[in-house]
Amino acid sequence: MAVARQTWTLGLLLVTSRFAVVELISVLTSRPEITVNVGTDALLDCKYTTAIGTSFTLDWRFVPGSAPNAQAMKILYYTNGETYKLGPKSKRLKLVNEPPTRGIASIRLEKTESSDSGKYICDINNPPDFAGTSEIFVNLIVQVPPSTPQCTVSGKPHVGNNITLSCRSTEGRPSPVYVWSEVNPSPGTSAATNVKKDNSKGTLTLRNLTEGNSGTYRCVASNILGQDLCHVVLTVTYNNELGVIVGAVFGTSIALILIGAVAYCLLHRRADHPKPVFVGNELREDALAPGKDPNSQLLESSIALRPGVSHSTDSKYNIVV
Ligand SMILES: *[C@@H]1O[C@H](CO)[C@@H](O)[C@H](O)[C@H]1NC(C)=O
Ligand SMILES: *[C@@H]1O[C@H](CO)[C@@H](O)[C@H](O)[C@H]1NC(C)=O
Repeated sequence: MAVARQTWTLGLLLVTSRFAVVELISVLTSRPEITVNVGTDALLDCKYTTAIGTSFTLDWRFVPGSAPNAQAMKILYYTNGETYKLGPKSKRLKLVNEPPTRGIASIRLEKTESSDSGKYICDINNPPDFAGTSEIFVNLIVQVPPSTPQCTVSGKPHVGNNITLSCRSTEGRPSPVYVWSEVNPSPGTSAATNVKKDNSKGTLTLRNLTEGNSGTYRCVASNILGQDLCHVVLTVTYNNELGVIVGAVFGTSIALILIGAVAYCLLHRRADHPKPVFVGNELREDALAPGKDPNSQLLESSIALRPGVSHSTDSKYNIVV
């Protein structure tokens, strides 16, 4: 406040020269930081002293979030007796004094949204009055309750493994606190030493998993404006059990795909080469030996490919079909 008073004093100081009376321009705000709840109005205070001349202009600019000032966008300006509003906030912006020519350039932003959070710059220009401070900053913080968090699991839920459950809300100001808990925990299963929580990051790490860790876990995201939650259902299995199921499905589909591909190729080759015409005793590569059933060739091809397939499945997952 001491600084602000000093600025006022400066602003009232008259500097006299032989040709003209020039007043030092001075802009200030009584509230450089405002916190409002989403949906309510925000008053962005800006007052100034200068002798209003014909070239007086007012600019309000907005820098979203914590972006650098260079990203400022003009949202409202007053020049030549007219007020102009720009951008998506224009309908919710009102000058407190219209026209803003009597030392008050404050604006009211109605029905604030989360994206209104950021820095607002009130800039007064009054040529030839260039001396002094011509702009002030107002930081607006729009508080919003946490959005519905996303619950995710990283790591494989196998016995003996470590996994981390994570929880995150994309919206929420102030930053939400995340609390994980197990819904209806079975008695005596959770060894506290194997559980680690971080309520600011929203993580729950479970180490050396046992089947007893299976269950439903809930994460509640909360801040002063409200809370929301998500669930994750954890089923802990033995690693090789899952491996066998995945391996069986995987192996079978590969074999089916290969058989299908071979059949497709053979049929196409036949379609591409209409009935071979024999000239003399020239032999075509793809011609069938007389008396040989075309189906037997198909069967041979797929059998030839099979050992490779079963080999890879066997070695990985120890399945014997
Ligand atoms: C689980 O975490 C502990 C401690 O961080 C580590 O010593 C252990 O090797 C991890 N186990 C697995 C299977 O990753
Ligand atoms: C993991 O759990 C098993 C069975 O509960 C136990 O025998 C083993 O010592 C544990 N391993 C570690 C690293 O805590």
